[in-house]
Amino acid sequence: MQDLDVQFVGSYVSVGTCPPEKLPEYAFIGRSNVGKSSLINMLCRRKNMARVSNTPGKTQLINLFDVNETWQLVDLPGYGYATVSKRKRAKFEHMIEKYLETRSSLQCTFVLIDSRHTLQEIDKEFVNWLGAQRIAFVIVFTKTDKLKEAEIKQNIESINAELLESWEELPQQFITSSKTTLGREDILSFIAEINKMHAAK
Ligand code: GTP
Ligand code: MG
Repeated sequence: MQDLDVQFVGSYVSVGTCPPEKLPEYAFIGRSNVGKSSLINMLCRRKNMARVSNTPGKTQLINLFDVNETWQLVDLPGYGYATVSKRKRAKFEHMIEKYLETRSSLQCTFVLIDSRHTLQEIDKEFVNWLGAQRIAFVIVFTKTDKLKEAEIKQNIESINAELLESWEELPQQFITSSKTTLGREDILSFIAEINKMHAAK
């Protein structure tokens, strides 16, 4: 897959202040520290395009990136970050929800789940909320370089078993590592397919 030409568009405090919808958008969301910004950098092959940090809660705004002048990546703040104040957390949640509910250019939401853990209650709630709002999403398992293959398989099976308690079918899934770039081609091909359908409309 060719290199992407990525330009930072801007950071926005709310969907209302984002530039008008123009290009198909793909949002990356998940618990704080799950690896959203790292995944965006990995896809873009840029070191610190989206800001990465060991401290959860690094991304606090809606960050838009233009790719090849044909589509946009959206880095969103993480949800469920326990140590920020209740008020601030509610503000982030409102920002994320409003963006996902109202942004008409949004094609698909990538929900990131840490492959090292069992399904967290907050992830389950979030995925169920997306379903109730009829927001299209796929799942991305992150940080798989930190585990052995058998452990990844086992964890993903357990997460999927739990998802199937609320869902009849599993959403499409990608197994990734921002460190080894595992999953890059698959995600970019998936986005390219949707862009093609979008262009044909
Ligand atoms: P917030 O913006 O705070 O919500 O976090 P985020 O989801 O954007 O996570 P971020 O990309 O900042 O990564 C958090 C930490 O996990 C950083 O220390 C990253 O280096 C590390 N990390 C992210 N992805 C991977 C991965 O695939 N493999 C490994 N080994 N570490 C990763
Ligand atoms: Mg981030």
